Amino acid sequence: MNPQKLVIALTKGRILDEVLPLLEKAGVVPSETIGNSRKLLFNSNLPDVQLMVIRGSDVCTYVELGSADIGIAGKDMILEYGSQGFYEPVDLRIARCRLMTAAPTGASLDSPRLRVASKFVNIAKQYFARLGRQVDIIKLNGALELAPLMGLADCIVDIVDTGNTLRAHGLEPRDFIAEISTRVIVNRAAMKIKHERVQSLLQRLQAAVDAMPAVKV
Ligand code: PRP
Repeated sequence: MNPQKLVIALTKGRILDEVLPLLEKAGVVPSETIGNSRKLLFNSNLPDVQLMVIRGSDVCTYVELGSADIGIAGKDMILEYGSQGFYEPVDLRIARCRLMTAAPTGASLDSPRLRVASKFVNIAKQYFARLGRQVDIIKLNGALELAPLMGLADCIVDIVDTGNTLRAHGLEPRDFIAEISTRVIVNRAAMKIKHERVQSLLQRLQAAVDAMPAVKV
């Protein structure tokens, strides 16, 4: 951990377009446009704040192990990572969706050994274990909707927002697993050692969230 710097790990991709305006409201602006370069590490308007841009699944690793002090990641990534090794103090209430099972419309899922495709293998395992169901989990990295269509799996565990992607592939949402939104996570040691700076940023982020118009879910 660098005691001088406050390192914030951001999740790259779509979520970033919603996170950057919130960060700006909280007083943190990257010193150059993120997304226009191959760079992964950015300085900011605040001399002691650095921004990393990485995959959501890696944000948890960096924050738990202390190479980043603060992380911004989807709750899906946090649940899949599965560790209690950091704090999760602020819900940014953006990128809201649900983690669900989904299956071909009308299909029965009664087979004694269900084949479940997901990129969230830990979440899927835990969910079906809670139900006491024997399942074979098939790890995929994307385009999960194709798995039932192509006969690879009976159902999937995936993110559902509008449900359009499911419908477009003849699937329907089945069981609700978890509410998902973007969360702020904080390394445990950084919360103590850099307490004032971390708390001040968390308060400003929370104020930015509170100022957002309420969204109907
Ligand atoms: C997610 C998810 C679905 C889609 C759901 O994919 O995996 O494919 O969004 O959204 P909808 O209910 O509004 O159709 P994402 O675009 O995040 O990328 P991914 O394929 O890498 O998971």
